[in-house]
Amino acid sequence: MRGGEPPYKRHDTVLIVDFGGQYTHLISRRVRELNVYSEIVPYTMVTEELIAEVKPRAIILSGGPSSVYAPNAPTIPRWLLEQGIPLLGICYGHQLIARMLGGRVERGYGEYGRVVVRIVRHSKLLHGWASREVVWMSHSDYVAEPPRDARILAVSEETGYIAAYEIPSMNIYGVQFHPEVSHTPKGKMLIRNFVYRIAGCRPTWRVENLAETLIEEIRSRVGGSHALCAVSGGVDSTVAAVLASRAIGDRLHAVFVNHGLLREGEPEEVLKTLRGLGVRVDYIDASEDFLSALRGVVDPEEKRRIIGRLFAEIFEDYAASHPEIEWLIQGTTYPDVIESGAVPGADRIKTHHNVGGLPEKLGLKVLEPLRYLYKDEVRRLGLALGLPEEVVYRHPFPGPGLAVRIIGEVTPVKLRIVRRASRIVEEEVRRAGLYRRVWQAFAVVGDDRWVGVKGDRRSEGYIVTVRIVESEDGMTADWARVPYEVLDRIARRITMEIPEVTMVTYAVTTKPPATIEPC
Ligand code: XMP
Repeated sequence: MRGGEPPYKRHDTVLIVDFGGQYTHLISRRVRELNVYSEIVPYTMVTEELIAEVKPRAIILSGGPSSVYAPNAPTIPRWLLEQGIPLLGICYGHQLIARMLGGRVERGYGEYGRVVVRIVRHSKLLHGWASREVVWMSHSDYVAEPPRDARILAVSEETGYIAAYEIPSMNIYGVQFHPEVSHTPKGKMLIRNFVYRIAGCRPTWRVENLAETLIEEIRSRVGGSHALCAVSGGVDSTVAAVLASRAIGDRLHAVFVNHGLLREGEPEEVLKTLRGLGVRVDYIDASEDFLSALRGVVDPEEKRRIIGRLFAEIFEDYAASHPEIEWLIQGTTYPDVIESGAVPGADRIKTHHNVGGLPEKLGLKVLEPLRYLYKDEVRRLGLALGLPEEVVYRHPFPGPGLAVRIIGEVTPVKLRIVRRASRIVEEEVRRAGLYRRVWQAFAVVGDDRWVGVKGDRRSEGYIVTVRIVESEDGMTADWARVPYEVLDRIARRITMEIPEVTMVTYAVTTKPPATIEPC
């Protein structure tokens, strides 16, 4: 196993069966906010071995894009409904249970967005709900006839469609709406009712108490040998390195590579932070190699490939010259693990490919102490480990660094512009008290020019684009409505402090259709 003993061995666990729903991670996070551990598993992977391995205290079936009548519609084995394990179906899950247990699902009027539901019967699930409540829906199929032995708990006020049911004899519940989204104001209460009142889960999952366990696990797995950890200064790799350093001390080789594409002052800050936390760091300044390999390269994908290849080579060389290293410690977090198709207990059966990190060709055994944690949980763990708030709440910064914020070739002048302008954007965003509210705030430069007048002289200068976005997870994003005064200060400072720039623009396109980074 890559991450030591999985938490489901020690904590009451809610298993979330994923049918490809948009909000599956949100369900999982809502459960964890209640201090109850949750695991996500794709519906195709639900087996008796898995249930025996995880021993879930409750199961939630997610939503999904399919129709229960579609050919090869996603489904689960019938025995799963007959275990007496408390089970909650959401949207597609709600329809699937109905169909499997003798109800009828039909194509109806779509209900999208805000819908008012009327509560028609008291139940543990809707404990604390008023007789009418607002919920958030997104469906076109609906349960036209409830499953056998079901009692209807709530209906949509307008359409009369079944919004919630329960089958007391089987401990099964279904809701057509999405309790996991914030647009269902009493949704958290519903999940709380399910997890505590119905399933009786004990709230023992607290990341703050996890540090000692993770440190002990790293210590026992690495034993007397050495481990390598690539650190970037980001919260995930910093937390992983601090845990490892506390576990194995100087047998941890934390390696920080400067590819010459870091932000202003970043190498010094990263080294100071890690060393301040007691981590022994090897600093490799490979700026020259990276920048000369990037000379003349314009294509964004090519730039990424070059950077990725050089990184891998540096680590391969490092590992080759330190034969005592047997382990690679990575800060991979739960969403990446799920995306890679991992399932609970599967590590014992097969090793799946390494996610989002260094190539397996390093030939090292991989340990991912954060593989069960969401980002907000990593942050809380970081605070518990004594990481400074600047590190814990640092904005994400892409591995290829400023190269993805320079459109076209990475030239010394463009690098200098983007570095200085990014610093200004960040400083002003902090000064306005917006840093923690936004996902990322940075500057971008390309090759286009804008004619300017500076001191009565005509000059041609670069265009800097400022990008400030709000996002939950980087998958979608909205541009931040920052006050004009803040934009004004940013624009003035950039043109004043960077003589090569004559124009500052603000990027006002969401993701999608644009991505967050320009390349
Ligand atoms: P995009 O630009 O795809 O970015 O909308 C989504 C999020 O991912 C970050 N990003 C990267 N992070 N290596 C990384 O470690 C990369 O190559 C990379 N590209 C984008 C980006 O900063 C944003 O938070």
